[in-house]
This record gives sequence, structure tokens and C-alpha cells, in this order.
Amino acid sequence: MAHLSKLILLLCMCDGGDGKAAPSEYTSPPWYPTPVAGWLDEWGEAYAKAAKLVSRMTLAEKTNITSGTGILMGRCVGNTGSVPRLSFPQLCLQDSALGVRYTDNVTAFPPGITVGATFNKQLMYARGAALGKEFRGKGINFHLGPSVGPLGRKLRGGRGWEGFGADPVLQGVGAAETIRGVQSQGVIATIKHLIGNEQEMYRQYNPLQPGYSANIDDRTLHELYLWPFADGIHAGVGAVMAAYNAVNGSACTQNSYLINRILKDELGFQGLIMSDWLAQISGVAAALAGLDMSMPGDASIPLIGEPWWASHLTEAALNDSVPMERLNDMTTRVVAAWYQMNQDKGFPEPNFSSWTKSAKGLLYPGALISPSGTANEFVNVQEDHADVARDIAMEAVTLLKNEDNLLPLDSITPLKIFGSGASKNPAGPNSCPDRGCNKGTLGMGWGSGTAEYPHMDDPISAIRERSSHVTSYLTDIFPLTAVAEKGDVALVFISADSGENYITVEGNAGDRNVAGLHAWHDGDALVKAAANKYEKVVVIVHTVGPILVEEWIDLPSVKSVLFAHLPGQEAGQSLAKVLFGDESPSGHLPYSIPKSEDDYPKSVGLVGFELGQAQDTYSEGLYIDYRYLNHKGIAPRYPFGHGLSYANFELGEATIVAGVSLSSAPPDAPPRKETAQSTYDKSRPPASEAYEPAGFAKIWRYIYSWLSRADADKARASTSRYPYPEGYSSVAKTAAPGGGGQGGNAALWDTAFNVSVTVSNSGSKAGKAVVQAYVQFPANTGFETAMIQLRDFAKTARLGAGQSERVTVTLSRRDVSVWDVRQQKWIVPAVGGEYRVWIGESAGRLKMVCSSASLSCRGGVTGPAG
Ligand code: BGC
Repeated sequence: MAHLSKLILLLCMCDGGDGKAAPSEYTSPPWYPTPVAGWLDEWGEAYAKAAKLVSRMTLAEKTNITSGTGILMGRCVGNTGSVPRLSFPQLCLQDSALGVRYTDNVTAFPPGITVGATFNKQLMYARGAALGKEFRGKGINFHLGPSVGPLGRKLRGGRGWEGFGADPVLQGVGAAETIRGVQSQGVIATIKHLIGNEQEMYRQYNPLQPGYSANIDDRTLHELYLWPFADGIHAGVGAVMAAYNAVNGSACTQNSYLINRILKDELGFQGLIMSDWLAQISGVAAALAGLDMSMPGDASIPLIGEPWWASHLTEAALNDSVPMERLNDMTTRVVAAWYQMNQDKGFPEPNFSSWTKSAKGLLYPGALISPSGTANEFVNVQEDHADVARDIAMEAVTLLKNEDNLLPLDSITPLKIFGSGASKNPAGPNSCPDRGCNKGTLGMGWGSGTAEYPHMDDPISAIRERSSHVTSYLTDIFPLTAVAEKGDVALVFISADSGENYITVEGNAGDRNVAGLHAWHDGDALVKAAANKYEKVVVIVHTVGPILVEEWIDLPSVKSVLFAHLPGQEAGQSLAKVLFGDESPSGHLPYSIPKSEDDYPKSVGLVGFELGQAQDTYSEGLYIDYRYLNHKGIAPRYPFGHGLSYANFELGEATIVAGVSLSSAPPDAPPRKETAQSTYDKSRPPASEAYEPAGFAKIWRYIYSWLSRADADKARASTSRYPYPEGYSSVAKTAAPGGGGQGGNAALWDTAFNVSVTVSNSGSKAGKAVVQAYVQFPANTGFETAMIQLRDFAKTARLGAGQSERVTVTLSRRDVSVWDVRQQKWIVPAVGGEYRVWIGESAGRLKMVCSSASLSCRGGVTGPAG
């Protein structure tokens, strides 16, 4: 055991100190100590209760609840230790962001990218609340979602589909609404992965190679990648998950600048931060850098019962390597999050097992010899959530093109259906573990961000319900037998998949490293062959992200193209309702579709193998997706936000009203209040608080927090201290200038401008309109900014022919600010300067502009990108 600890200590030294280093301008300066939480009013009551409970805990009880019990050592993907003496339960942590993973009787909702495409805040919240209910119903304390990192910087990145789209505001709104929904049910949401986890390959540390370093400058970090995390924290999220990779040369799980300074000090985060699974690479260093929970509890080599923390953290506290103030704070953050969500009031225990489908099974499948018992109680938590899932899938359907108004279809036109994606996987929608294959209708990507489908409502079934003239060829190779008759409409289903890197699908190790941005299974050839034979072709795309459509988009018979994104379990009716015109499409692209991958810079391509640490340097800075294309004057095939409707929307009268009067920097935050943690006794506890109880029957390989009497006594008597990280200090720092409230200075969320506009439907079909507001900063402020940036959006109710609705979009102080690296504050770079707020249907189709200087709006304009 001691030998192993040494090895582990050696391994932990690999952070930053080996191999190739991050370029010198990208640094993670040491920042210690961790701010002691509990100073914000929103969490005051929870901290008062938590401090009371934690002050009664022994040392081994404290370290027990900040660590997992080991992989496969409990029913959930993560299970903490408990404090039965004080009725503090074991906590269950479970994936995924789209539904409860590894169990039955749940809803497989559409993933984030589809939710983003709805541009519907109410649906984002409704899905969050439904998810919260299902997680609670299964007895899960922590929902491991939403995912906002990756943000979608890399088009080929494997997990972009788990988040809401390639824009910080779309991600931030999606995350905040999801968090509010999930936490309204008393379940702790976990926003992940902090930060820079934009590609799958080389993300993890191993003894031979560190995970890649995402090298991000401070302004880009704040204005793009951290933005949605700030929104999540502003919404009160209870937990954050630290990513596998490094940022600016230091692993995210022990990057003191990232966790202590940015997350906990500047963003005022009062909850707990956990490691991604097996992402932790040190014991003491991680604790000092601000990590609060070790998941799933094992050190780098799982299943040998050897933790980074638990008993080792007990030891580290006894020998004074980890100050009690830090350990108390870690523990209190966990307990406070539990109180904050009222989980002390009758929260159910887990009633399922991630590891077996049977009623009975091993309680600790990771143990060599495990007791058996009840594993699954098959609790059905679905309620009417299929309706929410279907509404999202339907409102996400994005109509890119509709020549000659081919859509909607009627029920008598003969339909010829092509592509295996029209129908469910014949082996069953769950036949590939963690959805690690692309067979049949693609409802989600693969990896930990998945759930089991309770059923798959596939497109072919839904289409057959509406039309009796359906002939299907459910293969991806165009059949020689296909016959074309006059009037036929061909529906061609194609797809593109990606996922997490522990599964390789058709050569793709998570990222789309082999498939590139083309449709899978030679979808381009299928479309071209159909377009060759039929005069009217509708292409339906199920995809994780942007695909290239150039090979066929301009073919005269390709009349209509629909992106159905990843619809989850409700793929059929949601699509059919749009295809046959019960509802108009109202989805919009949550990313741009470029004409070529080369339209983007090399820096957003996948980083390949490098000896030492792979370097993923964000040299494109603030310019990703439409920000980059606009900057370079490159026209996309379809712009970010694009989506047509069967209705015809017009923008009428618009007004702009100023909110708070702006100053360069927001008013300084008031001094921090005293935290309930200030009452703690900070002295080192006696060794007896760590003694393993006599006669306790241990499960071999399970992770415990006690020490043997001899080890505890030895640690308490030790005079040799851990080699503290460079720059370590135990003297509390003055608060970061940019901070104050949850997510940063509270005044950042003050309203700077409200823009209201009347949207009317002048068409003959009903539909919902999306209004998108993009800000254009004044020129010559000394801060280069992207030409336009999405700042808010709103979706109308279903507007019948002739109906109208007045919608309001809001720009906050943060929305008209830039991150000033020197002052470390958000500042309004030109108070009184002319901000333009562009209103339109996409980043490429802006129809109206409002000026903050004249406080007036006008239509009949063309956006700055032309
Ligand atoms: C993923 C996380 C996930 C965790 C637990 C990791 O591999 O990156 O997103 O929550 O596993 O399953």
C-alpha cells in the first residue's frame, strides 16, 4: 500500500512538468488558498445547516463524503461514502445529460444539440424539469449534466452534440434553463466539463502521456468558453465537473488558477467541483487546487481499492499536508449542496443498478467477492415526458431548403424512402452498448452521454401511418431495383455520428477523425443516386453536428433538406408532423454549415499525436463558427441560426429601451459576508478520529476513509510535510475584481437594453417564429470584437395566418461588455457609444437594426456580413 502511494505520488508529478510545454504566453499561475465558501445570501441557509452538521463529523467521516467508493462499488456510476451516524446518506451520481443512463423505464430525451436547435427557452426548462423528475424518481442525487464544454469549437469534436450549439449564449441559456428545471426537482445539476475539452482524442492523462493542454487566452476564455459556465453558476448550479485535459499546461482537476481563482473566487461558485471519472492525477495537489470530490474514487488505476483521497486524504489531514480549513470547506460544500436542494427532506434512495438488468445482482460488482441483493426495482419514472421529448424533437426540425414548396407533403403522393436511418436498428435500438454504433435511426451519439431507449418511434412507422403510398428501401446503397414514377417524392435519410473516445465506431475514436464532415455510409452517394433518378428529393439528416452538403445541395431535384438533428426516442411523429404539415418547422441551426472544412482555420481541426503533451492552442481566439466566417468574409452554405418555415414571418414595429445607466465597469461588489464556516475549529484532529472501527467487515477493493490505528498514529506524529506546489500560500487573497455574485459581479445581469418587436405571420400556414438578437459593438473601442454576436433569442407562440406577437429580447450589461484582461473585469468599452442590435432569422439574415445611441430601430436593412 505504502509502495503504491509512492508510485501514485510520482505519477502526480507529471502535471505540466514533462514533455512539451504550453507556449509561454499561456500560463496557469499558482493561486492559493481556495476561497472558503458560504458568503453568498442565496446559499446562506444551506451553509448554516451544513456547518452545523459538518462540525459534528469526525475526520474520517469528512473524508468519506468527498470521495467515491470506487468504480462499480455501488449502484450508480458514482457513489460517495456516507455518515450513517449523522444520517448523511451515500450520494448517487449518474449520467447522462439526456436521460437516466444504464436503466429502464426512463425517457431518452433529445440531446443538447437538438434542444439548442429549438431556440425555445420554455422547452429547455421543461426538459430540465422532466429530467429532474426522472433522476429523482430513480433516487439520484446528482444529475451529470448539462454539458457546455465542448462548446463546439471543433466541427469534428466527438461530444459537441451533448451541448446546445457553437455559441456561448445559446449554450449559456440552454444550460441555465436546464439547471433551473433539474434543480426545481431537488436534484443537483452538474455543469461539465470545465474546460477546453473540445476533442476526445488525447484528453486523458496516463502514466506515459499527459492529456492535451487547451491553451486559451484569458479574454477568449471569458468571452467564449467560460461564458456558459458563468450562466450555469448564476442559475445556482450545485456542482461542476472538471475536465480530463489540461488548460494552459495544468490539468483541470488540479489547476489552482482555474478552480480557486476563476471558478470559486471570480465566479463565486458555492457548490462543489468533482473530477471527471478517473481524471484526477494527484492527491494533495488536487485538494489544495480546490477540487472537492474525487470521482469515482479510485486513483489512476481503477479496481484495486487504491484511492487518491479517502484514507489518503485522512492521512494528509493528520500529517498537516492538507489544512483542515481546506478539508472542512470540501466537506461543507458537499453537504451545503445537499441542503440547498432540500435533499435532507425525504430524498429517495437509488432503486436501480447501473450494472445489471436483473432484479437481483451484485451490490458491488467491482469487489472480488460481493454480496448480492436487490438491484433493480424497475420504477417507471416516464410520466408524460415523451410529450416533452417529442415537442423538442419536432421544434428542432430545421428546414434548410424548400424549393417549389415541395414540403409539406400530402398523404396521397407516392413516397420512396431510402436509407437505413429511416427505420430502427433491426437488432434493437439498444443493441450496441452506450449506443456505440450507427445502425438504424440515429437518435443520439455514443458514450456516457446516452440513455437506453424505452422505445424508438422511427420515421418509417410514423410516415406509414400517414401515407399508404410508401415504398421503402432501407439500405444505404442505392438499390438497382428502385423504380421511379412520375410524381414520386424520394425521401433520403442520411446521418453523421460521433461520441466519446472509449468506443470506436467505424474507425472513429469519438471524434469524427475518419468520417470527417461527410455523411456516414456514403450518404452523399445515396443522395446523388436518388437525385439522379427522382425529380423531387427530400433529404433528412440525423446528425451530431455540421456536415458538408456541397456534393448535392444544388442538384435541381434536391428540393428540400431537413436537419432533424438527434431526435432521441421520439424520432418518428416529430418528423412526420413537420413533413406532412401538421406543424411548420421552427428549428434553427445551432452552428454554421460551411462549404468546406478548409473554410475554418487549422487550429480548430483535431490535434494529433505528439510526443509529450499534445498542445491544442486556441490561436483563432474569439473567432469560431460564424464569428470566424464573418471575420474572414467567408460565406457559409447555411449560416448559424438559419431555419425556414411554412409560415411567412415579418417583423413590424421595433423599439429599443435603455435599462440601467452604464458605466465603464460595473459597480464594485460589496465586501464578502462572513461564512458559517468561520465557526469551525481549524486545528488538526486527534488520530483517533481516523481509526478503523474494530470488527468492521470490509469489502475488498471498496474505498474507505479510515486508517489502521498504527497508520493514523504515525501520520499524526509525522513531521515530514508534503512538498507543496510552487506558489502555495495559506493566506486568503483579496477577492478577484471581476467577482461579487454567483457567476461574477451581480450587476453584469442588469438590463442594458430591451428590444421589442412585433412578429406577424403573413403566410397562410401557422408556425412559430424565432427572433434572434445579435450585438455589434461600436467601432474603435480599442477592443477588437466579432462582427456580430448572438446575445438573446425568443420564440413566439404558434401564430396562425394573420396573427402577430410582440416579443422582447434583452441585452445585459455583460452582453455589451468585453473582458478586460488588465483590469480583470467586464467593461463596457464605449459607454454612450453606438451599439447596434441586429434582429433577424439567422446570423446571415438580419432584417432590422436598433441603435443604442439614437434609441431607434429601422427595417429594410442588410446585416454587416451582407
Ligand atoms: C465522461 C463524463 C461522465 C463520466 C461518468 C466520463 O468519461 O467524460 O461526461 O459524466 O464519465 O460516466
